[in-house]
Amino acid sequence: MSRPIGLVSALRQELAAVLAAMPDEHIQRVAGRDFWVGHWHGHDVVAVLSRVGKVAAATTTTALLERFGVGRVVFTGVAGGIGQGVRVGDVVLARHLVQHDMNASPLFPRHEVPLYGRSHFAADAALSAELAAAAQAVLAQPHHTLGADAVTEFALSAPQLHQGLVDSGDRFVSSQTESDALRQALPDTLAVEMEGAAVAQVCHDYGVPFAALRTISDRADDTAHVDFTRFIERVASVYSVAMLSQWLTVRSP
Ligand code: ADE
Repeated sequence: MSRPIGLVSALRQELAAVLAAMPDEHIQRVAGRDFWVGHWHGHDVVAVLSRVGKVAAATTTTALLERFGVGRVVFTGVAGGIGQGVRVGDVVLARHLVQHDMNASPLFPRHEVPLYGRSHFAADAALSAELAAAAQAVLAQPHHTLGADAVTEFALSAPQLHQGLVDSGDRFVSSQTESDALRQALPDTLAVEMEGAAVAQVCHDYGVPFAALRTISDRADDTAHVDFTRFIERVASVYSVAMLSQWLTVRSP
């Protein structure tokens, strides 16, 4: 029998639509967190909020793996766009994740996680390819998924899927100076968020496939906080549920 799928987001607004779509979930409380255990499209699913930041996300992921025995972990949520051409309303699928605030130099090279001999953690290629296909299908029809009002309100046009490097760190990046510094330190970066690299590291430790899909909510600059919650409710959480639903529908249980 296949092991359950872990679905993780940082904020309640990001997971709301997923929870609304799960027909029969019940809550189990572990480590002060609610884990919603149930089914979706015939799959055993455990959904949980990681909370915000790397430590909270690592604790959540460890509980998800140890206590619920999930066989793969998919993170959905929002991120700030860093890469050129990565616009609000686009979606970034992580190929690799790095902690942009890890710095044990001069003992270890900047960004390297000490004693792992690496700075970047890879998302699972096969799982990511399945999610990329689901994301492409959803992004091809933004009006259908989001409704015309949301498309107009957030001036979304022809949203794109990008695949590549995602940075994680314990800060919300909300100034041009800071996002410029990230671009300089890690030039391949597409997007920045606050949990993914921690979840990837825990999944690496346990040998469990991991993938992450993030909707770009802002450009990690001086306007990054504007309409943040509303964007999550109207766009990002709707994309998340549509992409995950598409993925689970196509995937056999
Ligand atoms: N998540 C969404 N936008 C972000 C930003 N600008 N910085 C960090 N995490 C984010």
